[in-house]
Parts: sequence; C-alpha cells; structure tokens
Amino acid sequence: MSYIEQNKAAWKRLSRSTRIATDEECRNPMAALDPRGWLPDSVGGLNVLCLASGGGRQSILYALAGAKVTVVDVSPAMLQLDLREAKKRDVQIKTVCSSMEDLPTLENGSFDIVHHPVSTCYVPDLTPVYKEVARLLKDYGIYIGQHKQPTNLQIAAATGRGEYCLGVEYYHRGPLPDAAGAMYREKDATEYLHRWEDLIGGLCRAGLWIEDLREPYWGDPSAPPGLKAHRCRYTAPYVRVKARRRPRTGDDGKRLVVS
Ligand SMILES: C[S@@+](CC[C@H](N)C(=O)[O-])C[C@H]1O[C@@H](n2cnc3c(N)ncnc32)[C@H](O)[C@@H]1O
Repeated sequence: MSYIEQNKAAWKRLSRSTRIATDEECRNPMAALDPRGWLPDSVGGLNVLCLASGGGRQSILYALAGAKVTVVDVSPAMLQLDLREAKKRDVQIKTVCSSMEDLPTLENGSFDIVHHPVSTCYVPDLTPVYKEVARLLKDYGIYIGQHKQPTNLQIAAATGRGEYCLGVEYYHRGPLPDAAGAMYREKDATEYLHRWEDLIGGLCRAGLWIEDLREPYWGDPSAPPGLKAHRCRYTAPYVRVKARRRPRTGDDGKRLVVS
C-alpha cells in the first residue's frame, strides 16, 4: 500500500478522536488560532488555505473569524468533519480532497494565509509541498506551519530510568520503522523524518522568509519517567514556524544594504 493510502486509512480511524473546534474556541476564534499574535488583527475577507488540516478545527475557526476558507486534506473522513462542523456553525468552507504535494485545482498566488498543522511527517519529500505553498501564496502572504521535530522522531525507546534512546539515524531515509517506545507517532500511519535543512532550509529555498520559530514546552518538572510530560523535558514535540512569501518581483532580499 502506498504511504498515501496507508495514511488515509490511519486518519479514517483517527478522525473518530480528532479535536474539533469547541464552543469556547468558536466564541473567540482568533484567540484560539493565534495565541502568538502572528496573524493580522482581522482575517475578515482574507483567503485562507488550511493545508492538510481536516478535522473540523482550523477551517471552522478561520471561517468564524470571517475568512474565506479552503481546506485541503487527503482523508475524506477528516474533511467530512469540516463539512459537518461548518453546517453546525453555519459557515461556508470549500473542501479539496487531495495530497498536499500536488494541488492543481488551486490558483497561483490566490491565498493570503496558508495554515499548515502537523502533517509534513506523512510525506517523504517536502520539496513539492513547499513548492505548492510558495506557488499558492500571494506576495508577502503568511505561512504558519507546525512540524514534528526530528529528535522527537528519532527517539525509539525509553529506558524506564528517564533516559531516551535515539534509535533512528538523523539521516534516515524512507518510512520510519515501527517503534514501541516512540511517542508522538500515529499508530499504523507511515511517517518520515525531515531534517532541519529540509524543514526550515526547504522553506527558504522555496521562496519564503522565516519570521519566527517557536518550540512549545509541554514538559512538567514533576512528571515521572514514562509520561509524555517527562519526555517533553528532553525534546520539544514539534516546532511552529511563521514565514512570509518573498515577493516574486522587486526586492528579493538579496541586496545588502550598508549604511
Ligand atoms: C495532525 S492532523 C492535522 C489537522 C488537525 N485538524 C489538527 O488540528 O491537528 C494531520 C492531517 O494531515 C492529513 N494528511 C496526511 N497525509 C496527507 C497528505 N499527503 N496530504 C494532505 N493531508 C494529509 C491527515 O489526513 C490529517 O487530517
């Protein structure tokens, strides 16, 4: 089975427990979407692409905040949740069932914002994904992406004494092996490790400027070994990056200004 079919099947199952937008989040969608203040004060009227973002959360929050939303996902089951929640919340959204690597039905330079929750781990190569992001964003458009960080995917086991074993090489290619001790992996999904030069360098090479990068702290100093909150003291689960589409013409950022 291809990684696409494998992940579609995995997300069909995971769609039963995915986190949809709550009533509280829907009352203040911008606060739920943007605790870091990365978005404009209002997204009203903006074209937003929720990329690999099915599941009835981000699409609904952006739509409630007044954006014109397109949500792409490879899983019909996840997109069903978006449609169900859109109906419930009385908002309009457009859904596209496709892999994030190839989105020919979406027009060049048509989005102000691309919001991309954790999902790059489900494709072997980020180059086509970032190429699509760069193609679809307007000049100066905002990209917000979350990515599982490499160390997190390298950890294959814990000793029980609070030590974590890097069981996967940093330069590993191809699907990640099954690992009983690996947290932050989805059961039965095919996942890939992407190095920093792919995650961040790839974004720059595709034509985006990085503006910020955050690592959430989910650790708890009192958590015993075996819990995620213990492991998170050793490695952040993911990173969140804000980038902006470099303008296609004019200042390409290569000019060095010396005063
Ligand atoms: C962690 S979920 C992200 C969305 C979720 N709403 C959230 O808040 O985290 C990952 C999503 O990526 C989707 N996905 C996996 N492989 C994909 C691919 N090749 N193209 C597009 N979406 C994909 C899954 O179906 C799933 O909906």
